[in-house]
Amino acid sequence: MKTMKKIHLKPVFVKTKNVRNFEVMMDALSLNEDEGCFGMVFGRAGRGKSRTAQWYSGHNDCVYLKILKVWKSSELDFLKALCSAAGIVQPPKRKGAAFAAIVEAMIDNPRPVFLDEIEKMLRDFIDVIRDLAEATGLPFILMGEEELVSYMRRDRRVWSRTFRQLEYKPIEIADILLYTQESIGQKMSIDIASLLHKSSGGDWRPVKRAVLGMAHYLNSNPDKKITMETARAIVDSGLTGRK
Ligand SMILES: Nc1ncnc2c1ncn2[C@@H]1O[C@H](COP(=O)(O)OP(=O)(O)OP(=O)(O)O)[C@@H](O)[C@H]1O
Ligand SMILES: [Mg+2]
Repeated sequence: MKTMKKIHLKPVFVKTKNVRNFEVMMDALSLNEDEGCFGMVFGRAGRGKSRTAQWYSGHNDCVYLKILKVWKSSELDFLKALCSAAGIVQPPKRKGAAFAAIVEAMIDNPRPVFLDEIEKMLRDFIDVIRDLAEATGLPFILMGEEELVSYMRRDRRVWSRTFRQLEYKPIEIADILLYTQESIGQKMSIDIASLLHKSSGGDWRPVKRAVLGMAHYLNSNPDKKITMETARAIVDSGLTGRK
């Protein structure tokens, strides 16, 4: 990698194998019209679950909502937030009315619903979500870390409606090469990409920090290129620090 021009980091989205599997899952869920059903997306932190759902929602008109810990004991707070995510400008202030408003909005304009970080909810909430899926007949895609599988399995009626499950796997060397090329316009050697791959544990975040570190390095040392040694130093430095 060698450059003279100032490098900027572009916020690119790479179509990884996980992303392609996500699209296949969404196609399959959309075939199951009229009976509300669940999809499930799980995997370790940093593998790109949320970003994929946001990207997909942006292109396909979906409802996306990330669960907040502060709603933990309030179904009403959750329903109000879902109303807003579904485009209802003034969410009703009571549970039953908020539920009905969501159902009406979703039937008027049927869309898949993504609920992210679902494990932050009390278990009882899952019954509310099941009622919503049934009343609207739409797919609800529940997302979270690995414990989501047992969370959903424990409820038979939820599990029997779970059509698709997708595990997010570690990102791959090819993804890192593509990301570097597209975000900072630099070709990375396979050796350096393998190093990043290994040290990141398949998590996007340390990879992004390292690529940013490399861009900084190239900007402050325009006559140098990134050797394996420099790459190692960048990976080990505070910039990429946590693992
Ligand atoms: N396909 C992708 N292309 C480029 N960057 C990506 C891609 N997927 C994720 N990222 C970036 O990687 C980081 C982690 O992604 P994301 O937040 O989606 O992970 P996650 O699996 O939801 O993790 P967590 O379990 O911690 O919520 C984010 O900065 C995101 O923008
Ligand atoms: Mg996430």
